[in-house]
Amino acid sequence: MPYEALLRQAAGGDEERLAQMLAEVAAGAPAPYVAGFLLFRGHRFRIDRRAFITDPETSALVDVVLAEGDRLAATLGRSPCLVEFGVGAGSLAISVKLARPDWQLTGLDIDAGALTLARENASLHGVELRLIQSDFLSALPAGEAPDLIFGDPPWGGSEDLYDDERDERWYRQMPPHSAFPDDGGQTSVHDALIAATIARHWPTLLVLNYGVLPEAVIARSAGGLGDWRIAQPAPGISVLVGRAR
Ligand SMILES: C[S@@+](CC[C@H](N)C(=O)[O-])C[C@H]1O[C@@H](n2cnc3c(N)ncnc32)[C@H](O)[C@@H]1O
Repeated sequence: MPYEALLRQAAGGDEERLAQMLAEVAAGAPAPYVAGFLLFRGHRFRIDRRAFITDPETSALVDVVLAEGDRLAATLGRSPCLVEFGVGAGSLAISVKLARPDWQLTGLDIDAGALTLARENASLHGVELRLIQSDFLSALPAGEAPDLIFGDPPWGGSEDLYDDERDERWYRQMPPHSAFPDDGGQTSVHDALIAATIARHWPTLLVLNYGVLPEAVIARSAGGLGDWRIAQPAPGISVLVGRAR
């Protein structure tokens, strides 16, 4: 949805309010923060400065998660247990849960404020979503290997963008640790998550968004996995599907 349409919906016909919101956006504020909501896969989610603004491109990540989860369910003969790493406001995990209500969904995030917002969104959608504050996988019991871990961890830097409208300034207004890796590495959060999964000897399937990063960079990041491939579910977005063992 174009951002002006989002603001029009938020203003609900109040022209003075609309003008005020347009002025805030013109001054550089991201429109979903001004509107107070975002639309993702046809669902409405509350959003504010407590959490990252979901990139619409990650709808393609959700498509891959649903397809891989269906395959796992058929192989396992039961509903799979999924963990979203970096759940943010909850839009991805809740979309998965709405599409597959019998799957078990857990959302992890390092950021307590984002988790509070995810809890609000889960409640607004009436879905059960277990939410845990965790630095990487540290708060997940070692004996609780998920069937699938998915996510859109922070990646890239100021040059790695989906489009010109969402530039570095856009992403720098999001909470700390949410948009780009803190250490400036393009894939350092992915690398640490993959290493943590391997260290646990989990047979978990990883489904991770690398956005617009080049294949060679993704291949380097995936190198420690036993078996992996890069899916390109939509133009300009790459998703790693791999297993530690
Ligand atoms: C790009 S945002 C994606 C948020 C959400 N999945 C979405 O698409 O709206 C990345 C998320 O990862 C979280 N994160 C970053 N480092 C983390 C860590 N070490 N452990 C857990 N979560 C982390 C951030 O707080 C942020 O919510």
